[in-house]
Amino acid sequence: MPQSVSVDRREVSEEESRRANGPEWDRYADEYQATHGEFLGDIGFVWGPEGLTEQEAGALGELRGRRVLEVGSGAGQCSRWVRQQGGTGIGIDLSMRQLQHARRIDLETGTPVPSVLGTATQLPFRDASFDVVFSSFGALQFVADLDAAVEETARVLRPGGRFAFSITHPTRWSFPDDPGPEGLTASQSYWDRTPYVETDPQTGIVTYVEHHRTLGDWVRLLAATGFRLVDLLEPEWPEGHERVWGGWSRTRGSLTPGTALFVTDLAP
Ligand SMILES: C[S@@+](CC[C@H](N)C(=O)[O-])C[C@H]1O[C@@H](n2cnc3c(N)ncnc32)[C@H](O)[C@@H]1O
Repeated sequence: MPQSVSVDRREVSEEESRRANGPEWDRYADEYQATHGEFLGDIGFVWGPEGLTEQEAGALGELRGRRVLEVGSGAGQCSRWVRQQGGTGIGIDLSMRQLQHARRIDLETGTPVPSVLGTATQLPFRDASFDVVFSSFGALQFVADLDAAVEETARVLRPGGRFAFSITHPTRWSFPDDPGPEGLTASQSYWDRTPYVETDPQTGIVTYVEHHRTLGDWVRLLAATGFRLVDLLEPEWPEGHERVWGGWSRTRGSLTPGTALFVTDLAP
């Protein structure tokens, strides 16, 4: 992220969100992988900063022989793990630099994940071509047009297919994004969906955007798009886990949930 940015809550379009988030992730990718790569594991599947693994969660169900798409796949760590379980993991991400890291790790591990550059709101895949679609803190909180992203997911999933995704727990939006005690005092409305926007004050260009939806928004949208909610996991902060990741920490994680993991099935 740029050294100094001005922070705002205001409406932004899908186009503006995409224009901001692609280059933003290109700039941030090297630091992201250097800081979090070891925690993620080159062939590892964690659902969020609490460290809940897919091995523990079992949110995706059986993977052997399944065609699996990861949306917002970054360096492909999760999809590499999917491949080790016998699934055909494929990635899509908006950031070329993240995909370059994916390629580097493909070569280092010998477990390649075919990945494409693209956006969650326009998936370049045929109808009903996947058994499972998932996103681990991937694209979903970065898109303005969430209806399009969820509709696209439904389109590329086969009937009865599984869609699971983790996002920042919606209740976190009431609190400042601070891992310390400051982050424990609610200071803004949970129901205020106005996006969080960072702008470069020199150029006026939007450099980063995050979109907030309430738990009810998510349930309503998933139901309206033909998904049945199977589970909603809210991982607790584990004993002995002292890692701080952005606003996620033991201080906050032992009191409030930081991650929401939705598990859904498309209607058969
Ligand atoms: C927090 S990272 C998570 C990546 C990976 N799951 C991980 O755990 O490292 C978010 C990823 O979402 C990607 N992303 C953001 N907006 C996107 C969009 N509209 N479509 C596809 N990917 C997007 C970013 O480029 C970034 O790689």
